[in-house]
Amino acid sequence: MRVVIQSDYEKMSLWAAKHIVDAINGHKEDRPFVLGLPTGSSPLGVYRDLVKMNSKGEVSFKNVVTFNMDEYVGLPKTHDQSYWYFMWSNFFDHVDIPKENVNILDGMAKDPEGECLRYEEKIASYGGIDLFMGGIGVDGHIAFNEPYTSLYSRTGVRTLTSDTKIVNSRFFGNDPSKVPSYALSVGVGTVTDSKEVMVLINGHNKARALAHTVEGGVSQKWTCSALQLHNNAVIVCDEPACGELKVDTYRYFLDVEKDQRL
Ligand code: GLP
Repeated sequence: MRVVIQSDYEKMSLWAAKHIVDAINGHKEDRPFVLGLPTGSSPLGVYRDLVKMNSKGEVSFKNVVTFNMDEYVGLPKTHDQSYWYFMWSNFFDHVDIPKENVNILDGMAKDPEGECLRYEEKIASYGGIDLFMGGIGVDGHIAFNEPYTSLYSRTGVRTLTSDTKIVNSRFFGNDPSKVPSYALSVGVGTVTDSKEVMVLINGHNKARALAHTVEGGVSQKWTCSALQLHNNAVIVCDEPACGELKVDTYRYFLDVEKDQRL
């Protein structure tokens, strides 16, 4: 696992955006580049930077197919807290991606399990995901794979924990009861099947999760720790998120990734 430590959120975002652009521009195969994408506060800077790079002609999304990580159950696309709405308003509406290349789980599907199966099949039909970008929750969840979700899990229906509902209530008038109780989410296994996984971890509130992801054992309690078993995983973080790392861990990654500091 690589851990790239940047001084602040802006540099973390820029490094991650450039990493995506390099991967897309370096893709020389006939088939489209397949990109997995998250929502949340963490990737907002990356989306802003990708939009800028796209408008400057540094990257095109015309040959990119995307799959989003997750979606709340029961929120229509038009709801301003649906992940569909988040993705179109923060990213897709501002870049040159063809509409039909965007895949987002349908939280209103009449047959949620069927929708999840169809999603896995569609990912497989493109030959898998080339690069999956993710964020994590304070409890280390990746996508909506809460603690104790199988590290082999596939796309399916997830129950949100009370902790996650409390954290996400900031987008629902600070009322956890307004946060949907269920979500459709790719599985931990869906993420780790990708050729590369890049996870953004920023801020003091993610320090414990970063330490468990990097230094803890592989455990279903911290589903992000599954990345330790991936042979092409990179965590991009800011300094505040490093607060719980051991000093020698922090120094080690600063040393081996010193050329990556922006
Ligand atoms: C939600 C999403 C996750 C995301 C997490 C962290 O629970 N399902 O995919 O990584 O929030 O969000 P943030 O980046 O806002 O801290």
